[in-house]
Amino acid sequence: MSRKCVLAYRALPAEQMDRIRNEHEVVQADPRIPGQERAFLEALPQAQGLIGSSYAIGRELLDRAPRLEVISSISVGVDKYEPLELQRRGIMLCHTPGVLTETVADLLFGMVLATSRRIPELARLVEAGQWKANIGSDLFGWDVHGKTLGILGYGRIGHAVARRAALGFNMPVLYHSRSNVPSGLPDGCAKAVTRDELLAQSDFVVIVLPLTDETRGMLDADAFARMKPGAILVNGARGPIVREDALLDALDHGSLRAAALDVFDVEPLPLDSPLRGHPKILALPHAGSATHETRLAMAEMATSNLLLALRGETPLAAYRA
Ligand code: DGY
Repeated sequence: MSRKCVLAYRALPAEQMDRIRNEHEVVQADPRIPGQERAFLEALPQAQGLIGSSYAIGRELLDRAPRLEVISSISVGVDKYEPLELQRRGIMLCHTPGVLTETVADLLFGMVLATSRRIPELARLVEAGQWKANIGSDLFGWDVHGKTLGILGYGRIGHAVARRAALGFNMPVLYHSRSNVPSGLPDGCAKAVTRDELLAQSDFVVIVLPLTDETRGMLDADAFARMKPGAILVNGARGPIVREDALLDALDHGSLRAAALDVFDVEPLPLDSPLRGHPKILALPHAGSATHETRLAMAEMATSNLLLALRGETPLAAYRA
């Protein structure tokens, strides 16, 4: 098989880079790194494979890449691409579902605990030398166990969050999904409900939806108004699913207790964002899958997807629009 041209637009572990180099020529250029954008653009006309993540590859870039056969995204989410446009151009899109499910669910559950038990706030108090006596009710948190947890989107990650909540913390689970999915839990542990029922009844609303035209802006002022007073919002999916202005309003003037956000409209979160440093917001740097084990597994899977697709074989996970 002849060697092809691969453009890696994000750093890969050495072992994965070696696997690609064994079969193909590789140009490494991350357009987000100052000084590398030109090399990235110059490599596009030759590129037959692209591997990377978190960078929008739209029509303008595709026009510069007429030889492109496959994009292998090191992510489960595919919102940085236009799947139908790729299909029209005959370019395969691959992604990394499955390998990050439990890791993302761990962090989401951590966000539930951190906000409800006010863990970052209490840690900051100790760090600042302000722990001078037993803490008073002004610093008490709220129980997690036994509370109702609602999950918007019930795919792999939704199921993994539901297991932790129902089986680990004895929480009644509500879920809402476009398709009719079984809960995957013992009878009575989780119930499929409408979106409005979920918002009205949940103490925690956890978003694990993909970003699509349908989900963009789904958590707007109307949705916040429907939420149970004192509820906590956890978003580990994509920022634009939540209207950030409406969220701030619900925290500042409504009855939303807190929000834990791993994703934002603009990432990295701009320094002047009103979400940054807000007393009721726990903000994380899009870290859902960020463990040593899982990031390695994602890189391995994305590398295998790329190599299989360039050989004309079936990749482990091709995304179908
Ligand atoms: C994913 O895999 O989609 C994660 O959000 C990381 O981008």
